[in-house]
Amino acid sequence: MSGLIQIFDNKKFVLSNSRISYMMQVNEEGILEHLHFGGAITHPEYFQSQHKRVLRSLSPEFQGMPQFSLYDLPQEYPLFGSSDYRQPALHARNAQGNSIFDLRYKAHRILDSKMPLDGLPSARDGECESLEIELYDELQKLSVFLYYTIYANFEVITRSAKILNQSANSISLEQAMSTCLDLPQQDYELLHFGGSWAREFDAKRHELPYGRFTIESARGTSSAQHHPFMAVLEPGASETWGRVIGTALMYSGNFSITLERNEFKDVRLLAGINPFNFSWQLEAGQTFTCPEVVHVYSGSGLDRMSQNLHGFIQNKVSPQTFAHAARPTYLNTWEAAYFDIDEKKVFELAKYTQSLGLDMLVVDDGWFEGRTDDRRSLGDWTPDKKRFPSGIPALAKKVKDLDLKFGIWVEPEMTNTDSALYREHPDWILHVPGRESSLGRNQLTLDFSRPEVVENIYQQLDELFSCGLIDYVKWDMNRTMTELGSAGHPASRQGEIAHRYMLGVYDLVNRLTQKYPDILFENCASGGNRHDLGMLHYMNQSWVSDMSDPIGRLAIQNGASHIFPLSTYSSYLCPVPNHQNGRITSLETRFNVGFFCGNRGVSMNLEDVAQDESAIKNFIQRYKHTAKDAVNGSFHRIFYTDNEVCWQLISADKQTIYVGYFSILTKPNAAFRSALLRGLDQDALYKKGTKIYSGSALMQAGLDLPLVSTTQNSDASPSRLSDKERVEVLDGGDFVSTIIVLEKS
Ligand code: GLA
Repeated sequence: MSGLIQIFDNKKFVLSNSRISYMMQVNEEGILEHLHFGGAITHPEYFQSQHKRVLRSLSPEFQGMPQFSLYDLPQEYPLFGSSDYRQPALHARNAQGNSIFDLRYKAHRILDSKMPLDGLPSARDGECESLEIELYDELQKLSVFLYYTIYANFEVITRSAKILNQSANSISLEQAMSTCLDLPQQDYELLHFGGSWAREFDAKRHELPYGRFTIESARGTSSAQHHPFMAVLEPGASETWGRVIGTALMYSGNFSITLERNEFKDVRLLAGINPFNFSWQLEAGQTFTCPEVVHVYSGSGLDRMSQNLHGFIQNKVSPQTFAHAARPTYLNTWEAAYFDIDEKKVFELAKYTQSLGLDMLVVDDGWFEGRTDDRRSLGDWTPDKKRFPSGIPALAKKVKDLDLKFGIWVEPEMTNTDSALYREHPDWILHVPGRESSLGRNQLTLDFSRPEVVENIYQQLDELFSCGLIDYVKWDMNRTMTELGSAGHPASRQGEIAHRYMLGVYDLVNRLTQKYPDILFENCASGGNRHDLGMLHYMNQSWVSDMSDPIGRLAIQNGASHIFPLSTYSSYLCPVPNHQNGRITSLETRFNVGFFCGNRGVSMNLEDVAQDESAIKNFIQRYKHTAKDAVNGSFHRIFYTDNEVCWQLISADKQTIYVGYFSILTKPNAAFRSALLRGLDQDALYKKGTKIYSGSALMQAGLDLPLVSTTQNSDASPSRLSDKERVEVLDGGDFVSTIIVLEKS
C-alpha cells in the first residue's frame, strides 16, 4: 500500500485516506507538534498550525524561546517539567534523580506494513502504511519511537510508543502512555462505559469538566467498572450527527484514560497503562513497549464510529480463522447443572443437545480433579478420576460421535489453596510476604509475571488440547488482583508486576492459539470483566456478561455495541426465573435479545426445557439459519430509552433486515412508535409479509412498530377494520418484544 502517508519538507507528516487525516509537524524547536485528527484535509501542505506564540503572565518561556511555552503547544508525546504543566505522556526518573527530559525530533521512516508489538496484542497488517518517528533526548540518551498506522479502508489510526534507554544508567519509568491527543479548544461531551458484575457496559455520558477526568482500572483486569474506551463528542452528537473521536486501548490490564481541560479550554487525552502503582526499571540498552491504542474518527455521529470499529475489529483485530465464520450454537452445562456434572450426566446433556438441534456441547466448570465446588482444584487441569473416569478425550469422542462439536471450560490464571499446584508451589501466587492473601471467589491469582508459572500452565493445557478433539475453549478469569507482589522479582521491580502479569497472559494465550488455530476460543472474566481488544486479538468471542436475563442484557448489549461487533459476544437462552435477577420473561424475548449476538447457545437443563421443547427447537433453527448474518451483518442502534429499545441488523448480502423491538414495562394507552432505519438501499423495495416499502421511506419516514397493548385493548372492534387498517399489536404485559423481518425484493 502506498500513498497513505505524505511528508512535506521533511517535517510535516500527513496520514490520510479518503475520509480522515492525522497530521503533525516538527516545529522550529524540534518538538513534534500535533496539527489535526479528523475529517480528510485536502492540500495538507498549506495546513496552518493553530499554535499561537504569546507572552502570558505567569507562563515560563521554554528554554529561552521568546513568547513560547509548551503549555500552549498541542503535542504528540509531551513531557512535564519544562513549561508544560499538564499531565505528560512520559514521566520518568533519571539516574540523577530528577524527572526532566527533553524529546526532540531525530528521525522517521515509513513502513508499508503494520509491525506486531513485542509481546503485546496489536492490529493486523494489510492495506495500511505505518510511520515511525524517533524523538531523542541528547542529554539522557533516551529515544522514544512513536508508531502510527493508517489503513486505506477504516477511519482509524493506531498508535503506540516504544522507549529505548541508550544511556549507561538505569531509569525508572513512572508513566509511559501509549498516546496523547491534544484536541482543539472546544466544549466536549464524553461517552464511556462501565458498571459492575452482571451490569457491564452501562453508558455514561456527560460534559467534559474543567480539570481532569479519568477512567481507570487498578484491579489487574481492564474491568467491568471502567471499560478501556472513551469517546469525545461534539456537544449534542447523536447516532447520526456530530463529530466523534473514540479511543480504545488494546490492553487487558490496569489502564487509564484521562482527559484534562485547562483554563484555555485546551483538551488533552492520554491513554495507556495506569500510572498509579506502576513503575518500570529500564536498564541500559533496554526497551519498554506501550500497548496499542485505536483512535477512530466519525464526522457523522456514533453510528458511523461503531460501523468503523466493528469492521476494524472483525478484520484487523480478531483472529481471522473464525472472524467471518458462522459460530456453532451450543449447550453450556453451567446454568443447566453448575458443579453437579459427571461423565454420565454430560453425555445425557450431549444427547439432549443433539435432539434440540444444537451444534456443540460445552462442559463448563466442574470437570477437573476434585472440583465439586468453587473452593478447590483450580490449577489442576486433569479430569476428575471419580466423576470422569474415562478422561476428556474419550468423552469428547463420544460427544463427537453424536455429530456434535465439543467444548471445555478452563480458568488457567487461578489456583485454590486446596489444589495440588498450590501445595507444591505456594509461592506461585501473587502475594506479599508476611501478609495474608485476600481471596476472591475462594481463589488466588497465579503469578503470571514468572515465566516458569506460565510454562507449567502451558504444559498442562497443551496436554489437554493436544487430544485434537476439542473444538472450543471457554477461557475464564474470575477474580481481580490483591496483594500485588511477586516472589519471582526483586524489590526494585515490584511496580512492574501487574504489567508483567499481562505479558505472561498474552504469552500463554498467544502460544496456545497459535498452536491450536482450529480451536474457537471464548474469553470470559466473570462475564465482561476483561472483554477488551487485547483479549479479542487472540480470541474471537466473549461471554460478555453473566447477566442472562434479556431485560438485564439490553443495556449491556446496547453499550457494548458502540465498540464491538456482534461477532464478539455470546448469549444463552437461560431458565426462568432468571438466576441473576429473578425476572420471568417469555422464551421469545429471551430468544429475541440473544438474536443480536454473534454466538448463541442454551444453558438450561432437561426440566427447564421440557415445557417449551418444541418452541426451543424452532428458535434454535432460527439461530442456525441466521448465524452468518449475526456474525457478518451490520448492526445499528435505532433507539434506546429506559423503557424501549430498537435495534437493526442488515445481513451481509443486504437482502434481509431484522428489526428488534423491545418494550420493558407496558403503559396503558401507549404512543405509536416507528423506527427510522439506516443503511438501506434507498431505491430498493423491501417486503414485510404483504406490505411493501421503499428503502427511502423506511429511512426517511420510518417503519411502524407494533403497539404494545393488552389483549383487551387490541380486541376493541376488530371486525369493523380491514387487515390494512388494523394496528399491529404486540400482545402485552411487560417485557414483550418482536423481530420484524424485511426482505429486499
Ligand atoms: C464465571 C463465568 C460463568 C461460569 C462460571 C464457572 O462466573 O462467567 O459463565 O463459567 O464462572 O465457574
